[in-house]
Amino acid sequence: MKTYERLLLENKAWAQEKVEDDPDYFNRLTHIQTPEFLWIGCSDSRVPANEITNTQPGEIFVHRNVANLVIHTDVNLLSVLEYAVVHLKVKHVIVCGHYGCGGVKAAMTNHDFKQVLNMWLRNIKDVYRLHTDELADIKDEEQKFDRLVELNVMEQVQHLAKTSIIQKAWQNDQRPDLHGWVYGLKNGVINPVFEMKAGTPIEKLYQYDDL
Ligand code: CO
Repeated sequence: MKTYERLLLENKAWAQEKVEDDPDYFNRLTHIQTPEFLWIGCSDSRVPANEITNTQPGEIFVHRNVANLVIHTDVNLLSVLEYAVVHLKVKHVIVCGHYGCGGVKAAMTNHDFKQVLNMWLRNIKDVYRLHTDELADIKDEEQKFDRLVELNVMEQVQHLAKTSIIQKAWQNDQRPDLHGWVYGLKNGVINPVFEMKAGTPIEKLYQYDDL
């Protein structure tokens, strides 16, 4: 059996099991999608949103990319954000990074990963530069790496708050709250490191006055 065939076989078994447990399961999911959360996570295969939060299909709207970045020219991410905030009316947006993130680690090196990866990782190098002083004080390389993972998540949450999508929803609906979390690959535990409740003031230059 080819490796991908196992996935299809497992899928059949899973679908059958779901229906046996709850005959209405798929019928219900087909007709409603009202997730309360948007999850922006890393593409890393070890950080599956539903599994680590013990949630079911229908509960979390998900976007994943390398090192969970929120880039204000990323049409893909912005489409997901707009759909989740404006149409699904999610109450919380969670940026979840993880310790041991390969993307963050790569950005800490001087290695040339060639375009397009260099372009992507540049954003993390910019986070490092913003916090050079703090990071320079951390002598232990592993701790420095962990801290950059946390700082990266905080920075991405702030990027969310700088979008007109979030500012408009904050003004009109007092939602969503923004959360920055870091998942531990070693113990499976999520560490909440940052939060911006709806309406949190942001730097004046980034505020839109004509929403
Ligand atoms: Co990662």
